[in-house]
Amino acid sequence: MIALIKNIAEFVGTEVTLNGWVNNRRSSGSIAFLEIRDGSGFIQAVVGKGVVDATTWENIEKLTQESSVSITGKVTKHPKQEGIFELQANKLEIIQIAAEYPIGNKEHGPDFLMDNRHLWLRSKKQWAILRVRDLVISAIQEYLHNQNFIKVDSPIFTPNACEGTTTLFAVPYFDEGNAYLSQSGQLYIEAAIASVGRCYDFGPVFRAEKSKTKRHLSEFWMMDAEAAFVRHDENLKLQEGLVKYIVKKCLEQCQSEFVILERDPAPLLAVVEQNFTRYTYDEAIKKLNELGSDIKHGEDLGNDDEGLLTQTSPVPVFIEKWPKSIKPFYMKIDPENDSRVLNDDLIGIEGSGEIIGGSEREDNYDTLLQKIRHEGLPEADYEWYLDLRRYGGVPHSGFGIGLERMVRWMTGVEHIRECIPFPRTINRLKP
Ligand code: 4AD
Ligand code: MG
Repeated sequence: MIALIKNIAEFVGTEVTLNGWVNNRRSSGSIAFLEIRDGSGFIQAVVGKGVVDATTWENIEKLTQESSVSITGKVTKHPKQEGIFELQANKLEIIQIAAEYPIGNKEHGPDFLMDNRHLWLRSKKQWAILRVRDLVISAIQEYLHNQNFIKVDSPIFTPNACEGTTTLFAVPYFDEGNAYLSQSGQLYIEAAIASVGRCYDFGPVFRAEKSKTKRHLSEFWMMDAEAAFVRHDENLKLQEGLVKYIVKKCLEQCQSEFVILERDPAPLLAVVEQNFTRYTYDEAIKKLNELGSDIKHGEDLGNDDEGLLTQTSPVPVFIEKWPKSIKPFYMKIDPENDSRVLNDDLIGIEGSGEIIGGSEREDNYDTLLQKIRHEGLPEADYEWYLDLRRYGGVPHSGFGIGLERMVRWMTGVEHIRECIPFPRTINRLKP
């Protein structure tokens, strides 16, 4: 019977076949220890020279790291370690003998590993990251469906900017001039809420960011959520609920991945249990200055500022009501202070930085038109967006969460490039 390693506990005492790869191999004379990986997990197979026939033993000796095999044997409990199982192999079929594998157990530099990303993905740590990423994706979708959102996909080729014109990737588009790769599907799902009430998109977005930081990709995945009749305060509650839900799911379902990643889950417990902190932008600047930052009022927070503001916080921190001058045109002006907008950035703990950006949207036609003009955006391209305020406009809010930022936080990985299968950064387009 073909079994999956993740279910191996069910097969103790029976004979199973595993299809997979040789992750590692060592032998001591008449016994070989093969670490086998089948995609669902890892297990040690023990092969005794006296137990298998002569050809099988010869095959065992030919095995190289990454060779693909079908291996059969009896599942046993590890003699000393609770919850660990082994395969006492008696048969091995070679599918392919791998050529000398470039990634060994020694230390490799990040450039070498990134050049070999197509192979590096197989390593245990990368496997664990891919699994956490998958869980974060499904947790996001589950939470949103529980909150009555449905998925509405937004286009990637777009005629106009969502998040400012300085980070657009232009692509020649037939006879229509340039198209721009989407920076966020927000404007499109704003249109869809008048049809379905609450919706989200989830897909790749693109920023021609010149930033070479550990938190920036030029292609990353974003989930944009948008909801009719939701105002600023409820918007923050939805975001807090989402982050708590993701963290809870990771704590419940990523225990073995956390072990592989050497990620201490303890700091995440408070995130699930306690209310998130809220600062206005003004309060955040004041606090940062007290903590020794030289940030000036009216400036965006840098990486260091985000770290400083959250360094002793057990929970993520919302910074709300920013100066309208440094935020995009679509954010709603705060009725209590017309130099501020009803928005928020959510800053994660443990140095994870900005995870979410969101706001109530400007629903007043005249104000929105004025803002589009003030920013010098091509008015004609935004006619359709203005229509949303002409025909049954309602108060509404939304936010976008950066998937890789969230995965980076959950996994505790240093650099965001490991949080997406094939990263695209300012100096990396291959493989
Ligand atoms: O704050 P941002 O730019 O917000 C928007 O795009 C809104 N239109 C979203 C919305 O309201 N629907 O981006 C949202 C999130 C950030 O908080 C961050 O987590 C992530 O996207 N992000 C990046 N992640 C990786 N690399 C980059 N270059 C990123 N830029 C933003
Ligand atoms: Mg932002």
